Amino acid sequence: MDTDLNKEIERLYDKLHHLGWSRSDCELIAPDTLEIKELKKEQNAVILAHSYQTPDIMYGVGDYVGDSYGLSVRATEHPAQKIIFCSVYFMGETAKLLNPGKEVLVPRVAGCSLADSITGDQVRALRKEHPDAGVVCYVNTYAEVKAESDACCTSANAVEVVEAMPQEEILFIPDRLMGLNLAKITSKTILTWDGTCVVHEGFSVDTVRDIRKRFPGVKILAHPECTPGLVSEVDYAGGTSGMLNYVKNSPAKTFMLVTECGLTDRFKAEFRDKEIVGTCILCPYMKEIRLDDVLRALKEPVPEQYIEIPADIAARAKRSLNRMFELEKEGKTLLEERGTSALPWTA
Ligand code: 13P
Ligand code: SF4
Repeated sequence: MDTDLNKEIERLYDKLHHLGWSRSDCELIAPDTLEIKELKKEQNAVILAHSYQTPDIMYGVGDYVGDSYGLSVRATEHPAQKIIFCSVYFMGETAKLLNPGKEVLVPRVAGCSLADSITGDQVRALRKEHPDAGVVCYVNTYAEVKAESDACCTSANAVEVVEAMPQEEILFIPDRLMGLNLAKITSKTILTWDGTCVVHEGFSVDTVRDIRKRFPGVKILAHPECTPGLVSEVDYAGGTSGMLNYVKNSPAKTFMLVTECGLTDRFKAEFRDKEIVGTCILCPYMKEIRLDDVLRALKEPVPEQYIEIPADIAARAKRSLNRMFELEKEGKTLLEERGTSALPWTA
């Protein structure tokens, strides 16, 4: 066997054996990961991998692993002219909105139960029904929906954005459960849409209670896409990066992550002195993306892998992302003045 391939197998085994990958599993994927690495270098491309991707993508070929928004921002700072965004389509769109001059490709056109639940036309109809409401869209939406909204938000800044909106009534789209969580902890009247995340809506409060009984001292973390009943019983609720910071800074040894299995894998790989217990749920959309799709995006890309957003939609969607930054700042100041700057989702 040639030395490059041998070295690649060793590199993969070093990164993946903590996650249960055997040497022969690594032998199987090594020819593809090696080819991907070579093509990436030749084409001056960067590979971004969302935390919900499989370990072969996150640790086998990803240059950066992270949450959707953080990865798109990282791409703006990276000199590569080609971005391969290993994730669902709407996240590729966000990367394109923030990197309009670069080529952005997704390995596969994968949906998301939240993003797929609402269209731009439906937002326009909602606006007619609720003319006094401000419209805030969660980042898990397509560009055409962001374009029809007043501001966008992520799970990391939704509270600040909603608080800083000038309207008292906020139409929060499309995540009904995150909207209900916001209604509990913000001063606004929140109107919701009927979208849900198929992963996070699937966890029950009973599971959380059972884990607490079985593992005394466990710290339980959940995503605010979970039900308000569940969110109110956990130790921390927040997005991917918030959970990561919590675990990094916590003296506790045992954690349950009420979220997608990719993040559980990531924590197992990156915090080897901590124990992750309990169950996780796979996102069927994220798991559509496979290593050979990543290879195809570099070797023989097809038109549907390229993200293209019509200029008028891109301009309006970008405006709603820009508004998010302004409101996030204003919201932080507002919450500080009210003495609730560390307002947790679990309040
Ligand atoms: P992040 O925005 O934290 O990457 O999460 C995306 C997501 O799909 C949550 O279910
Ligand atoms: Fe969409 Fe939920 Fe999958 Fe995230 S985990 S991509 S919100 S379906």
